[in-house]
Amino acid sequence: MALTNRRILITGGAGFIGSNLAEYLSDSNEVFVLDDLSLGSRDNIEGMNVRIIEGSILDDAILSQLDEMDVIFHLAAIPGVQDSIDHPVRTAEVNMLGTLKMLEYAREKDAGTFVFASSCAVYGDPGEMPISESTPPNPLSPYATQKLASEHLIRNYSELYGIKGVSARFFNVYGPRQNPYSEYSAVIPKFISLCLEGRRPVIFGNGEQTRDFVYVKDLVRGLELMASVEHKENIINLGSGREISINELAGTIAKETGCGLEPEHAEARKGEVERSLADISIAKRVLGWEPEYSLEKGIRETIEAFKRKHI
Ligand SMILES: NC(=O)c1ccc[n+]([C@@H]2O[C@H](COP(=O)([O-])OP(=O)(O)OC[C@H]3O[C@@H](n4cnc5c(N)ncnc54)[C@H](O)[C@@H]3O)[C@@H](O)[C@H]2O)c1
Repeated sequence: MALTNRRILITGGAGFIGSNLAEYLSDSNEVFVLDDLSLGSRDNIEGMNVRIIEGSILDDAILSQLDEMDVIFHLAAIPGVQDSIDHPVRTAEVNMLGTLKMLEYAREKDAGTFVFASSCAVYGDPGEMPISESTPPNPLSPYATQKLASEHLIRNYSELYGIKGVSARFFNVYGPRQNPYSEYSAVIPKFISLCLEGRRPVIFGNGEQTRDFVYVKDLVRGLELMASVEHKENIINLGSGREISINELAGTIAKETGCGLEPEHAEARKGEVERSLADISIAKRVLGWEPEYSLEKGIRETIEAFKRKHI
């Protein structure tokens, strides 16, 4: 079911996933983006039919001036495990207190639906695959704990104040507008940009570790369905349901960019999860959602988008 003619707030809407969601929803809805531009940028939403409110989700004055919304997609965060290890308090302010403030805003303004960007990081390193929503959480970093705490707050608000809240546990999302340049950038944008620059990508460890990569255009369709389909789930995995090793991934990117460069191998990073694979049967059954992009097709589109940006 599509969302149409709704007033939609996307926090973090100038970031990678938020801007893809804004683009997807803005044709048939009134979309507002609340973003402090600390990590996102105006460039990401340039030319889109959206209204940007520049400010922090922690700023009460801004929240009190915001009008009522039908749907809130809460994506603003300081994402990334390492940042949360280096700055546990600052990240908790945004990632936990920020969620609470957005929930309070939703309660005061009677917002209908609240969809939260959670993460597969809440599962830690469960060993048993695939990872389903009933796999016990085992957060191994402040970031994962902040996401899990936010999920619990959303459940509290749903039960106590009648907000329709749901948490989407994203697996590894990739696609256009993902930042390749920070020290802790995700592997796909990093490998693509290195290949396009004629530099060899670096694989940490033997490269046999696996991840579940979901294309951002599939993900934003899933988020729309989470807000529009009647369901009673509190938590839904959004992944591809496919497990890919980093070696295979590097091979696909080398082939699709045509760079022909062999990756270098470096020492394995501490605390890296060995395997990751989402069980997406709840999303399939409850939302009728299924990824449409193969990894090859998603990578091809991402490469094209990166090339356009490089020119
Ligand atoms: N990218 C992934 O693979 C992935 C996986 C799991 C979960 N997530 C979650 O999805 C969400 C979006 O991630 P992304 O990859 O698009 O990251 P991103 O960094 O591109 O987007 C985050 C956005 O939040 C904004 N922001 C940060 N602090 C803010 C504040 N105080 N007030 C207002 N805006 C603020 C940033 O400026 C940025 O635009 C995050 O909540 C992240 O934790 C992402």
